Amino acid sequence: MRKYLTLAVALLMAGSSVAQDDIKLPAPNKDVKMTLMDALQQRTSVREYSDKAVDDATLSQVLWAACGINRPESKKITAASAINAQDILVYVVRAEGAWLFMPETNVLHKVCDKDLRDDVAGFQKFAATAPVSLVLVSDKAKFGNRSRGSDQLAAMDSGYVSENIYLVCTALGLGTVARATMNHEVLSRELGLTDQQVPLLNHPIGWLK
Ligand SMILES: Cc1cc2nc3c(=O)[nH]c(=O)nc-3n(C[C@H](O)[C@H](O)[C@H](O)COP(=O)(O)O)c2cc1C
Repeated sequence: MRKYLTLAVALLMAGSSVAQDDIKLPAPNKDVKMTLMDALQQRTSVREYSDKAVDDATLSQVLWAACGINRPESKKITAASAINAQDILVYVVRAEGAWLFMPETNVLHKVCDKDLRDDVAGFQKFAATAPVSLVLVSDKAKFGNRSRGSDQLAAMDSGYVSENIYLVCTALGLGTVARATMNHEVLSRELGLTDQQVPLLNHPIGWLK
């Protein structure tokens, strides 16, 4: 009996480590049928989306492919990363607010209650029609003392994550486009970024129309 009580308390405590408004995503389903060669063949930029929501199970697949942990023993990720800095943070922007993806726990940590999709879209209004957008931010502090050349390393690292997003979206029947266009200042403020954290790319994502 005592054993079960201890287990129940432990489970409750584990549950409370996900703050209110944070979202624990389901484990990503990695059993996706499209071959890599087919995904490469079909990859294309898509700028029109259905308004059907992208569910959390699908979002979990996209985020794991983007920069999730694929080698738990070394905590390395699906995207190659200069000096393994893992500087690319992925923010999830939806109508209900914005969240930071935490790869180690597969949790979305809420950082903003506002709908920032217009600020992700900037002057390209089509992007605001996507039910979800991912904003790729380089945390250049993660390059430590190697700050020389960190702008280039950050830009390159975001490209690897971006291509992963393109390919997984293709394989899952989602449309996306990599975009450098966005309202950088508003996003930096509303996402609570530091001076060292720079939005580089974003990906509106939605089901194909
Ligand atoms: C670094 C980068 C920035 C881009 N920025 C934008 C953008 O701001 N807006 C946009 O509509 N497309 C943007 N694109 C998408 C390109 O326009 C697109 O990849 C190109 O036209 C080739 O089309 P494809 O991706 O279908 O092959 C960007 C692509 C890259 C790689």
